[in-house]
Amino acid sequence: MADIITDVLIIGTGPAGSATAALLSSYGVENMVVNRYRWLANTPRAHITNQRTMEVLRDLGPEVEAEAYMHCTEQDLMGENVFCESLAGEELGRMKSWGSHPLSRAEHHLSSPTMMNDLPQTLMEPLLFKTACSRGTQARMSTEYKSHVQDADGVTTTCLDRLTGKDITIRSKYLIGADGGNSKVAEDLGLPFEGKMGVGGSMNIMFRADLSKYVAHRPSVLYWVMQPGADVGGIGMGLVRMVRPWNEWLIVWGYDINQPAPEVTPEIATGVARQLVGDPDLEIELLSANTWTVNNMFATHMQKDRVFIMGDAAHRHPPSNGLGSNTSIQDGFNLAWKLAAVLRGEAGPALLDTYSQERAPIARQIVTRANQSIAEFGPIFEALGMDGGTDIEKIQASMDARCDATHAAEKQREALRKAFAFKKYEFDAHGVEMNQRYSSAAAVTDGQPEPAFTKDKELHYQPTTWPGARLPHAWVYDQAGKRHSTLDLTGKGRFTILTGISGERWTKAAETVGKALGLTIVVHVIGPRRTWVDHHGDWATSREIEESGCVLVRPDHHVAWRAMTLPDDPAGELMRALRSVLGREPGGVAQTQEEVA
Ligand code: FDA
Repeated sequence: MADIITDVLIIGTGPAGSATAALLSSYGVENMVVNRYRWLANTPRAHITNQRTMEVLRDLGPEVEAEAYMHCTEQDLMGENVFCESLAGEELGRMKSWGSHPLSRAEHHLSSPTMMNDLPQTLMEPLLFKTACSRGTQARMSTEYKSHVQDADGVTTTCLDRLTGKDITIRSKYLIGADGGNSKVAEDLGLPFEGKMGVGGSMNIMFRADLSKYVAHRPSVLYWVMQPGADVGGIGMGLVRMVRPWNEWLIVWGYDINQPAPEVTPEIATGVARQLVGDPDLEIELLSANTWTVNNMFATHMQKDRVFIMGDAAHRHPPSNGLGSNTSIQDGFNLAWKLAAVLRGEAGPALLDTYSQERAPIARQIVTRANQSIAEFGPIFEALGMDGGTDIEKIQASMDARCDATHAAEKQREALRKAFAFKKYEFDAHGVEMNQRYSSAAAVTDGQPEPAFTKDKELHYQPTTWPGARLPHAWVYDQAGKRHSTLDLTGKGRFTILTGISGERWTKAAETVGKALGLTIVVHVIGPRRTWVDHHGDWATSREIEESGCVLVRPDHHVAWRAMTLPDDPAGELMRALRSVLGREPGGVAQTQEEVA
């Protein structure tokens, strides 16, 4: 008999584990989360928080979303990436980043009810963790995962209680390894990975110092410093990152991965800070310093029967593009409702297979993108004549040459402008953040081909209700004239149907099907004198179906299925689609436990 029994055991209280625990508890699923340490994130690591992640927080409740905004550095202050010789030295260029270009900002506004922001992991993690615990998650700190065995009915996990030195066993129906980049759960499962760990060496130096005089007039999250050696290891270039404006900072500097990791003593840390800030007398309050490696590795499969991996356990990559914690939280949003549906007996276990089918391609995509972004600093170094050398005089001569009135210098200036602009694939890649479309049995085709991207799909989000895509955001209005996003009408652990007045028969169909399948399907009719009114016509232009059709939306805001028009037998069509999404096809293996029995 195990010491503790729960439905879902989660290893790790990072963004992945805490978000999943918060979601499961919000859906009423019994769960427990363990962390081998007695603390949550003790360094600010992840910070760029994209709109899709904010949508997950919004789904957790307005109070969760509001608290994130309260603690964050808002989008306006995220500003422009600055490229410079040092903070005090010559500025070489800027690029409007993270939606600060007016055209990009418009795309952000049109895409989501939320705002991108900068929320250090030291603030995000406690918010998710507290949400989880306050809604029912059992949390156990100083509890280290050691091993697990699974059988047909569940998983027995052994953990070390680090307070007593004794082993404890936890029996759960499912186990989630959200235990970070050195995941022991992933290792124990023997899941397939591609790529390589340790492709570059990096050091983090955290400190307090008031740098307002260098930065307040050009607010940014990231100040990129090009100095000899800046292209060695690391994340592409020396970085001074704002943690809190403008007195808390994190420097990222590289080291040669082929050499042993340096010991970052206070002297070295202070020296690097002075060098990158460009002030030889700078006094810093050193908070911490450590080394870490740049990784380029992803799982090609994220599940083995009753055990799943998520977050950095499945995708290990540099912080470029700010995708790590975002993707980790979004993994949780994908898996939590599926576990809830299976545990409630609404879905067959086959639904759980769609987690890896949907998220493993995302893992590959973001790891590839983040590593590519490091390589894409190359043209900047080339344009400045800094590629590959540490000959300071040569570099200085090349940087000086760009200011000459010669044809060669004109070309150099143009090359530099283009090289900076090209970095939008790292610092303004809205499409990478928002365009995730799934292909699995949990997104039932309506026979329409996937809409082709009409713009660069890494830079621009393209809304569609094509099954598998995220539901497009449009503001609709209640009878008091207050606006609500279509995303607000959906989610919260439930399936939702959106239709128009001529599709009102979907309400009855949803009731019939919901009763037969034992689940709640919420229906929203959008039209004049109905609960929701499409005053701007934005929903009508983005829904891609006739008014009488319907869009069936999953609890994670992705489209499960859609019907162009009202069919003769809406209940029959809805039943067919939902049975397939839920892995309950009659006669197939993918039925609920009850049906199988
Ligand atoms: P994470 O590593 O955060 O958590 C793992 C958890 O598992 C911890 O609680 C740990 O204690 C626990 N654990 C591990 N082994 C265990 C065991 N055996 N037993 C029990 N518990 C165990 N991302 C982003 O989205 N935007 C950004 O801007 C940045 N920026 C950034 C900058 C820098 C400098 C770094 C180093 C990283 C980033 N990231 C980022 C990446 C981000 O920090 C990372 O992707 C997330 O923390 C991953 O979250 P997870 O929850 O998957 O793992």
